[in-house]
Amino acid sequence: MITCAPEQVQHVPSPPLSMGRIGATTLRRVLAVGVIGPGRVGSALLEQLRAAQPRLAHDIGLDLKLCGVVASKRMWLDCDDAELNGRHGGAQIWRPNDLDAFAEHVRGSDGRHALLIDCSANDEVAAHYPRWLAAGLHVVTPNKLAGSGPLPRWQAIRAACASGARFRYEATVCAGLPVVQTLRDLLDTGDELLTVDGMFSGTLAWLCNRHDGQQPFSALVREAHALGYTEPDPRDDLSGLDVARKLVILAREAGWPLSLEDVDLQGLVPPALAALPLETFMQRLDELDAPMAAKLAEAHAAGGVLRHVAQLDRHGRASVRLMVLPASHAFAHTRLTDNIVQFTTRRYCDNPLSVQGPGAGPEVTAAGVFADLLRIAESLEARA
Ligand SMILES: NC(=O)c1ccc[n+]([C@@H]2O[C@H](COP(=O)([O-])OP(=O)(O)OC[C@H]3O[C@@H](n4cnc5c(N)ncnc54)[C@H](OP(=O)(O)O)[C@@H]3O)[C@@H](O)[C@H]2O)c1
Repeated sequence: MITCAPEQVQHVPSPPLSMGRIGATTLRRVLAVGVIGPGRVGSALLEQLRAAQPRLAHDIGLDLKLCGVVASKRMWLDCDDAELNGRHGGAQIWRPNDLDAFAEHVRGSDGRHALLIDCSANDEVAAHYPRWLAAGLHVVTPNKLAGSGPLPRWQAIRAACASGARFRYEATVCAGLPVVQTLRDLLDTGDELLTVDGMFSGTLAWLCNRHDGQQPFSALVREAHALGYTEPDPRDDLSGLDVARKLVILAREAGWPLSLEDVDLQGLVPPALAALPLETFMQRLDELDAPMAAKLAEAHAAGGVLRHVAQLDRHGRASVRLMVLPASHAFAHTRLTDNIVQFTTRRYCDNPLSVQGPGAGPEVTAAGVFADLLRIAESLEARA
């Protein structure tokens, strides 16, 4: 058994109220869980699951059975040398990564409820979702590659849910913020999405907030890199691709068949710097300064601010780019690395519905994943 010891309690989502607090109940839900990708988010999630296991079992009769963990090369299964694992409070031996065998192990052969959590950023893992869902395994993920990947695969994933398995991905957009669920609730209650506007990159939000002309843009990128606000390669943030993926996920949630290629993506990295080795790119970072200074001057001349904005308009046109916004705009007043999303809908048409807050970080992302798990658990049939 992979360690179940209660450790220091971190912030975890409260159990859904509808599951009720049942104390020592006879009706229990057992959910077998496998975690794919014990990296930053996966490790934070494992901690949160371990900390919450006793509380969930006692309060709402939910038994989370952690059956295995798989990383890029190795996997650890709870069936491996149970005695040794029990003695050490955790899995001690490993096998080579085999995603199909891993999924089969978590699914078991006793008809139990089973759920896989993909905390990787790997496309090959996402390619397995249709098969897993069709076989009745629930899937939860912060990995954006399925939601924003090829449309036929996305459609295959949705179709595979006909098995009754659930697929949830709240943490793919703005980490732990309730963005996808908010949109889902609007749509499920009969509202109609008209437009989406957002700032989906904490890194770019921070850079835009700090870019006031006092320092060259390259100095700010170097500072953000040193603070760990950027990806190891800052071009992954500056390209805007990650933001475009989030916009595609929201558009598809609303039933619009958008693909990445449809997004008018205006990145901050000039083509000449896009393919350089990281070290050379960092040395030539000051080549971003003149174009960014010109954009800032344009913003100042208009009495506005520069912001990195994702937009989906009423005609399904999607764009991701730097924009000059009026100083009175809501996006001009976000703090630090805040993400913000505004949904304009038939009901929220005069004043959009906004969700705002920190949109990155392993712990809040893991909590978003955990909340998805709990929503699925809530729908499971309880057994005596
Ligand atoms: N970090 C955040 O704040 C944040 C916010 C929102 C969403 N996300 C998303 O959350 C996911 C995880 O992010 P992270 O920051 O935790 O990444 P990370 O630290 O790089 O961890 C990725 C994990 O995935 C594993 N992995 C890679 N390929 C795999 C494969 N084929 N099979 C099984 N495991 C595989 C890696 O294994 P090894 O350990 O063997 O390399 C590693 O454990 C990503 O999709 C990311 O976009 C992250």
